[in-house]
Amino acid sequence: MRTPLIAGNWKMNGSADLVEAFGRAFAEAELPDGLEVAIFPPFPYLEAARRAFAETPIGLGAQTLNPLHSGAHTGEVSGRMLCEFGVRYALVGHSERRQLYRESDEQVYDRLLAALGVDLIPVLCVGETLEERDAGRTMEVVLRQVGFVMSRLEPQQRSRVVIAYEPVWAIGTGRTATPQQAQEVMAAIRDYQASFDAELASAMRLLYGGSMNAGNAGELLSQPDIDGGLVGGASLKVDDFLAICQSAG
Ligand code: G3P
Repeated sequence: MRTPLIAGNWKMNGSADLVEAFGRAFAEAELPDGLEVAIFPPFPYLEAARRAFAETPIGLGAQTLNPLHSGAHTGEVSGRMLCEFGVRYALVGHSERRQLYRESDEQVYDRLLAALGVDLIPVLCVGETLEERDAGRTMEVVLRQVGFVMSRLEPQQRSRVVIAYEPVWAIGTGRTATPQQAQEVMAAIRDYQASFDAELASAMRLLYGGSMNAGNAGELLSQPDIDGGLVGGASLKVDDFLAICQSAG
């Protein structure tokens, strides 16, 4: 049985007030048994979030990390530093980092290794653009992104990875993939893991991201190969994010 995970990626949004509002709301929230919840705030809010979420089920995530522990890398943050703030998860390869900051598969792999190296749970983000989908290249692109990383890892490392399928054309657009579209790709991602190890395929958590909201989360999360969500815009509204968490039961 895979533990469901609902993660909120605040991107470059949020505020100290929003951190406090989440802390208050989730301190008393009724959530499905066994549900994991995480918020990935911008780095400046990590300390406030650690304090505000201490008495809640919310875990902390980072939106990226530098592969190195320290050094002359202005503006960068290392996994070791993130661990000092109680961070447990790290996004790697988010499409905005691939598209806007030109992160290559190699750089994504290096960041994922760095996350594993400090015992963070890496959330490997993959997804195709609308052009790639329209050209019938969805599986080719997604499985290339997944395979580049997973084929280079040792079995024990693979077992730590969570994969988030986020069709680029669904991110921030309000145009959510249908449950059938999401399920088809995520079943293929799971089948790919079986080429390494059947147990890995069965145990790996796969998240859907891309305009998930309180209205569509239930149907998406009811799909057999969708174990949770990676939520952007709807994670900036306490009530909406709470509703998504409650529909994960
Ligand atoms: O990482 C999650 C994000 O990319 C999805 O954004 O706003 O479409 O839920 P959104």
